[in-house]
Amino acid sequence: MTYDLPTFQTKHLIVKPRTLLDLQACLAMDRDPEVTRYIPGPWADPDRHEAFVRARIKTDFGPGLGYWSVVPRERPDCFLGWILLIPYEGIGPEIDIGWRFVREAWGNGYAGEATAPVLAHAFQTVGLERVVADIDDRNARSIKVATRIGMADQGRIEKGGITYRSFVLAAQDHMQGSAGRLPPR
Ligand SMILES: CC(C)(COP(=O)(O)OP(=O)(O)OC[C@H]1O[C@@H](n2cnc3c(N)ncnc32)[C@H](O)[C@@H]1OP(=O)(O)O)[C@@H](O)C(=O)NCCC(=O)NCCS
Repeated sequence: MTYDLPTFQTKHLIVKPRTLLDLQACLAMDRDPEVTRYIPGPWADPDRHEAFVRARIKTDFGPGLGYWSVVPRERPDCFLGWILLIPYEGIGPEIDIGWRFVREAWGNGYAGEATAPVLAHAFQTVGLERVVADIDDRNARSIKVATRIGMADQGRIEKGGITYRSFVLAAQDHMQGSAGRLPPR
Protein backbone atom coordinates (compact mmCIF):
# COMPACT_ATOMS: atom_id res chain seq x y z
CA MET A 1 0.00 0.00 0.00
CA THR A 2 1.35 3.44 -0.79
CA TYR A 3 0.82 6.20 1.71
CA ASP A 4 0.72 9.84 0.65
CA LEU A 5 2.71 12.07 2.95
CA PRO A 6 0.71 14.93 4.46
CA THR A 7 1.35 18.63 3.79
CA PHE A 8 1.81 20.99 6.74
CA GLN A 9 1.55 24.75 7.13
CA THR A 10 3.47 26.65 9.77
CA LYS A 11 3.63 30.36 10.51
CA HIS A 12 5.92 31.13 7.56
CA LEU A 13 6.26 27.85 5.65
CA ILE A 14 4.56 25.11 3.66
CA VAL A 15 6.11 21.68 4.26
CA LYS A 16 4.98 19.36 1.46
CA PRO A 17 5.99 15.98 0.02
CA ARG A 18 9.13 16.27 -2.12
CA THR A 19 8.62 15.35 -5.79
CA LEU A 20 10.67 15.21 -8.99
CA LEU A 21 9.59 18.82 -9.62
CA ASP A 22 12.05 19.71 -6.83
CA LEU A 23 14.93 17.77 -8.39
CA GLN A 24 16.83 20.71 -9.94
CA ALA A 25 16.43 22.86 -6.85
CA CYS A 26 17.73 20.01 -4.68
CA LEU A 27 20.74 19.48 -6.96
CA ALA A 28 21.54 23.21 -6.97
CA MET A 29 21.32 23.30 -3.16
CA ASP A 30 23.72 20.35 -2.81
CA ARG A 31 26.19 21.92 -5.23
CA ASP A 32 26.82 24.73 -2.74
CA PRO A 33 29.91 23.44 -0.90
CA GLU A 34 28.83 25.23 2.29
CA VAL A 35 25.58 23.24 2.31
CA THR A 36 27.20 19.80 1.94
CA ARG A 37 30.35 20.65 3.88
CA TYR A 38 29.63 18.17 6.67
CA ILE A 39 27.66 15.60 4.64
CA PRO A 40 29.39 12.79 2.74
CA GLY A 41 27.83 12.17 -0.70
CA PRO A 42 28.32 12.14 -4.47
CA TRP A 43 28.05 15.93 -4.75
CA ALA A 44 31.13 16.37 -6.95
CA ASP A 45 30.01 13.87 -9.62
CA PRO A 46 27.01 15.33 -11.52
CA ASP A 47 25.72 11.99 -12.87
CA ARG A 48 25.99 10.11 -9.60
CA HIS A 49 24.59 13.09 -7.73
CA GLU A 50 21.49 13.29 -9.93
CA ALA A 51 20.97 9.51 -9.83
CA PHE A 52 21.25 9.60 -6.03
CA VAL A 53 18.71 12.40 -5.55
CA ARG A 54 16.29 10.94 -8.14
CA ALA A 55 16.41 7.58 -6.38
CA ARG A 56 15.82 9.23 -3.01
CA ILE A 57 12.80 11.13 -4.39
CA LYS A 58 11.30 7.96 -5.89
CA THR A 59 11.96 5.62 -2.96
CA ASP A 60 9.02 4.57 -0.80
CA PHE A 61 10.56 4.70 2.68
CA GLY A 62 7.49 3.21 4.39
CA PRO A 63 4.20 4.54 5.73
CA GLY A 64 4.48 8.17 6.79
CA LEU A 65 8.21 8.36 6.02
CA GLY A 66 10.09 10.30 3.34
CA TYR A 67 11.21 13.79 2.43
CA TRP A 68 9.28 17.06 2.62
CA SER A 69 10.19 20.16 0.59
CA VAL A 70 9.94 23.49 2.37
CA VAL A 71 8.72 26.66 0.66
CA PRO A 72 7.63 30.06 2.00
CA ARG A 73 3.86 30.50 2.34
CA GLU A 74 4.24 33.84 0.57
CA ARG A 75 6.32 32.39 -2.32
CA PRO A 76 5.39 28.75 -2.86
CA ASP A 77 7.52 28.57 -6.03
CA CYS A 78 10.70 29.26 -4.03
CA PHE A 79 12.46 26.09 -2.77
CA LEU A 80 14.07 26.64 0.64
CA GLY A 81 15.16 23.13 1.57
CA TRP A 82 13.91 19.82 2.88
CA ILE A 83 13.20 17.79 6.01
CA LEU A 84 13.63 14.01 6.02
CA LEU A 85 12.18 11.26 8.16
CA ILE A 86 13.61 7.98 6.83
CA PRO A 87 15.09 4.69 8.10
CA TYR A 88 18.56 5.16 9.59
CA GLU A 89 21.26 4.46 6.97
CA GLY A 90 18.46 3.30 4.64
CA ILE A 91 17.67 0.22 6.71
CA GLY A 92 16.45 1.22 10.17
CA PRO A 93 15.11 0.10 12.54
CA GLU A 94 15.84 3.55 13.97
CA ILE A 95 14.29 6.48 12.08
CA ASP A 96 16.45 9.43 11.13
CA ILE A 97 15.29 13.05 11.14
CA GLY A 98 17.29 15.50 9.03
CA TRP A 99 17.25 18.97 7.51
CA ARG A 100 18.97 20.78 4.66
CA PHE A 101 18.34 24.35 3.52
CA VAL A 102 19.75 26.65 0.84
CA ARG A 103 22.26 29.02 2.32
CA GLU A 104 20.11 32.10 1.63
CA ALA A 105 17.48 30.63 3.95
CA TRP A 106 19.76 30.09 6.96
CA GLY A 107 19.39 32.21 10.08
CA ASN A 108 15.59 32.51 10.04
CA GLY A 109 14.69 29.60 12.28
CA TYR A 110 13.18 27.75 9.30
CA ALA A 111 14.79 24.39 10.08
CA GLY A 112 13.20 24.28 13.52
CA GLU A 113 9.89 25.68 12.24
CA ALA A 114 9.65 23.10 9.43
CA THR A 115 10.73 20.22 11.66
CA ALA A 116 8.00 20.84 14.25
CA PRO A 117 5.04 19.44 12.25
CA VAL A 118 7.18 16.57 10.95
CA LEU A 119 8.00 15.57 14.54
CA ALA A 120 4.34 15.79 15.56
CA HIS A 121 3.50 13.60 12.56
CA ALA A 122 6.31 11.14 13.43
CA PHE A 123 5.10 10.62 16.99
CA GLN A 124 1.35 11.16 16.78
CA THR A 125 0.49 9.78 13.33
CA VAL A 126 3.24 7.30 12.46
CA GLY A 127 3.55 6.27 16.11
CA LEU A 128 7.34 6.23 16.28
CA GLU A 129 8.86 5.78 19.73
CA ARG A 130 11.91 7.88 18.91
CA VAL A 131 13.83 9.59 16.13
CA VAL A 132 17.61 9.91 15.83
CA ALA A 133 20.15 12.14 14.08
CA ASP A 134 23.91 11.73 13.72
CA ILE A 135 25.48 15.15 13.17
CA ASP A 136 29.10 15.88 12.28
CA ASP A 137 30.73 17.16 15.43
CA ARG A 138 31.86 20.30 13.58
CA ASN A 139 28.38 21.14 12.23
CA ALA A 140 27.50 23.66 14.93
CA ARG A 141 24.42 25.03 13.13
CA SER A 142 22.83 21.61 12.80
CA ILE A 143 23.70 20.71 16.40
CA LYS A 144 21.89 23.88 17.45
CA VAL A 145 18.81 22.84 15.48
CA ALA A 146 18.84 19.39 17.12
CA THR A 147 19.19 20.93 20.58
CA ARG A 148 16.53 23.56 19.93
CA ILE A 149 13.95 20.92 18.95
CA GLY A 150 14.67 19.03 22.16
CA MET A 151 16.96 16.21 20.99
CA ALA A 152 19.28 14.73 23.61
CA ASP A 153 23.00 14.45 22.89
CA GLN A 154 24.03 10.80 23.38
CA GLY A 155 27.73 11.47 22.82
CA ARG A 156 30.24 10.99 20.05
CA ILE A 157 30.50 8.09 17.57
CA GLU A 158 32.95 7.42 14.72
CA LYS A 159 31.73 6.56 11.21
CA GLY A 160 33.92 6.48 8.12
CA GLY A 161 36.68 8.42 9.83
CA ILE A 162 34.29 11.23 10.87
CA THR A 163 33.23 12.05 14.41
CA TYR A 164 29.48 12.47 14.81
CA ARG A 165 27.32 13.50 17.74
CA SER A 166 24.48 11.08 18.15
CA PHE A 167 21.13 12.76 19.00
CA VAL A 168 17.86 11.15 19.99
CA LEU A 169 14.36 12.44 20.69
CA ALA A 170 11.90 10.08 22.39
CA ALA A 171 8.19 10.48 21.73
CA GLN A 172 7.54 10.78 25.44
CA ASP A 173 10.05 13.61 25.85
CA HIS A 174 8.67 15.39 22.79
CA MET A 175 5.09 15.23 24.05
CA GLN A 176 6.05 16.31 27.56
CA GLY A 177 8.47 19.01 26.44
CA SER A 178 12.13 18.22 26.98
CA ALA A 179 14.00 19.90 29.82
CA GLY A 180 16.88 20.70 27.48
CA ARG A 181 14.78 22.51 24.89
CA LEU A 182 15.49 26.17 24.32
CA PRO A 183 12.48 28.46 24.69
CA PRO A 184 10.67 29.35 21.44
CA ARG A 185 11.30 32.85 20.13
C1 LIG B 1 21.58 22.98 9.54
C2 LIG B 1 20.82 24.15 8.96
C3 LIG B 1 19.46 23.70 8.45
C4 LIG B 1 20.63 25.17 10.09
O1 LIG B 1 20.13 26.35 9.55
P1 LIG B 1 19.95 27.63 10.47
O2 LIG B 1 19.31 28.66 9.65
O3 LIG B 1 21.21 27.90 11.18
O4 LIG B 1 19.01 27.04 11.55
P2 LIG B 1 17.59 27.56 11.96
O5 LIG B 1 16.70 27.54 10.79
O6 LIG B 1 17.16 26.78 13.17
O7 LIG B 1 17.90 29.04 12.37
C5 LIG B 1 18.59 29.31 13.58
C6 LIG B 1 19.07 30.71 13.55
O8 LIG B 1 18.10 31.53 12.91
C7 LIG B 1 17.91 32.73 13.65
N1 LIG B 1 16.51 32.87 13.94
C8 LIG B 1 15.76 33.88 13.52
N2 LIG B 1 14.50 33.70 13.88
C9 LIG B 1 14.42 32.53 14.55
C10 LIG B 1 13.38 31.83 15.18
N3 LIG B 1 12.12 32.27 15.17
N4 LIG B 1 13.65 30.65 15.78
C11 LIG B 1 14.91 30.16 15.78
N5 LIG B 1 15.94 30.81 15.22
C12 LIG B 1 15.70 31.99 14.60
C13 LIG B 1 18.81 32.71 14.80
O9 LIG B 1 19.89 33.54 14.48
C14 LIG B 1 19.26 31.28 14.91
O10 LIG B 1 20.61 31.21 15.19
P3 LIG B 1 21.11 30.93 16.68
O11 LIG B 1 20.61 29.58 17.04
O12 LIG B 1 22.58 31.02 16.52
O13 LIG B 1 20.54 32.00 17.54
C15 LIG B 1 21.60 24.82 7.81
O14 LIG B 1 22.81 25.32 8.32
C16 LIG B 1 21.89 23.86 6.67
O15 LIG B 1 21.04 23.60 5.84
N6 LIG B 1 23.14 23.36 6.64
C17 LIG B 1 23.59 22.50 5.55
C18 LIG B 1 22.97 21.12 5.59
C19 LIG B 1 23.27 20.42 6.89
O16 LIG B 1 24.38 20.49 7.42
N7 LIG B 1 22.25 19.68 7.38
C20 LIG B 1 22.38 18.94 8.60
C21 LIG B 1 23.13 17.68 8.41
S1 LIG B 1 23.23 16.78 9.95
